[in-house]
Amino acid sequence: MSKDLHTGFDETIYPYINKGLDGVVAFSTTKSFIDGQAGELIYEGYNIDVLAENSSFEEVCFLLWNDRLPNQEELDDLTHKLQTRRGLPQVVIDYLHAVDKESNPMSVLRTATSMLSQTDIHLPDDSYYEKAINITAKLPTIIAAFSRIRSGQEMVMPKETGSTAFNFLYMLNGEEPGTQAEKTLDLCLILHAEHGMNASTFTCRTVAGTLSDLYSAVTGAIGALKGPLHGGANTAVMKMLMELEAQGKDADAVAFTKDKLAKKEKIMGFGHRVYKTFDPRARHLQKMAQSLSEETGHEELYRWSMDMLTTMKNEKNIDPNVDFFSATVYYSMGIQPDLYTCIFTMSRISGWAGHYMEQMANNRLVRPRALYVGQKNQDYPPIESR
Ligand code: SDX
Repeated sequence: MSKDLHTGFDETIYPYINKGLDGVVAFSTTKSFIDGQAGELIYEGYNIDVLAENSSFEEVCFLLWNDRLPNQEELDDLTHKLQTRRGLPQVVIDYLHAVDKESNPMSVLRTATSMLSQTDIHLPDDSYYEKAINITAKLPTIIAAFSRIRSGQEMVMPKETGSTAFNFLYMLNGEEPGTQAEKTLDLCLILHAEHGMNASTFTCRTVAGTLSDLYSAVTGAIGALKGPLHGGANTAVMKMLMELEAQGKDADAVAFTKDKLAKKEKIMGFGHRVYKTFDPRARHLQKMAQSLSEETGHEELYRWSMDMLTTMKNEKNIDPNVDFFSATVYYSMGIQPDLYTCIFTMSRISGWAGHYMEQMANNRLVRPRALYVGQKNQDYPPIESR
């Protein structure tokens, strides 16, 4: 006899748990489609390869927030709004100066993002689009500012011109980036923007499901992305490559990988809950990693990466994910490893905000069940007898 979920919970009907919600379809969405067998990723109908070739991060933001590509006027309008809202409230700047310089940048970003909510207290609660623009515009400023302040440098104020990628590198390094560096980062922002029901997006939609605000949803999502099994993997990949670097340019990445596997350690940057083949995003990042590492004299990073890739394929039939080659790309761009997940965040805000808006348009509170495996109705023992 099947029991209606809404009237009761008979655990005899549910004798198993989908640990990690593996394979559970919890929402419908137009934001992205992932074919894990074919290695295909589509944002709102457009293949990631087509967007990588033709689009920009600003255009992908519009696509994810409006379910369609913009015309030139619409793109110019969104770009202008993103350019002119990069400034931070003084309370956030004060926080960035006050927080411990040794703090994890993702912890700082999570707190500063939550503080941004005070800049929108006069906006109507349903101003999701404007709030999405405000957060997307300000995250790069927070990241670049903390990076400089913790190093004893002055914060570089954002320009009200240029792309998100251009302005982030300008604020981070204190000098205008070259065209190649801007294009490389812009492509990375496109590739990291959206990826279905990953852990941080699920967190975002769960918070949205209670009709809470976008800042709460994004703060929770940043907390989820920070984890090394999710967005934190790119920083962990760089730590692995730096372990090899410490062994010298002749380090044996094959033996290094096999040794970790023998110890049952997870090799960061490999494997995926959905992709059971090469992550299509990794293909673009691999090309960038090869060219950038060679241009900057770090070709051993790419060589080691390819040795690890081959070893993981041979030993575990596991392919790289988006985090594997992004580490080498960012390192070759001179970005500090503990900022890599922050860069993931300043891109994924676009997907999170798109999912938040989608949830608000057709909401149902997210509230799964749990199979109780504890004792029931025990006698209450006096404390003396415990
Ligand atoms: C991202 O969900 C998304 O879409 C996320 C993301 C996005 O854009 O939002 O794509 C971004 O988070 C990419 C993933 C980044 N994380 C890592 O690189 C961390 C390392 N990867 C693993 O922890 C793992 O692959 C996960 C967590 C990503 C996925 O793991 P699953 O689906 O839970 O699979 P599993 O851990 O149950 O592994 C299945 C088997 C196990 O072997 P057995 O115990 O069955 O013998 O594969 C092995 C695992 O040990 N395995 C690995 C491995 N990944 C899986 N073994 C070594 N190294 C790995 N990286």
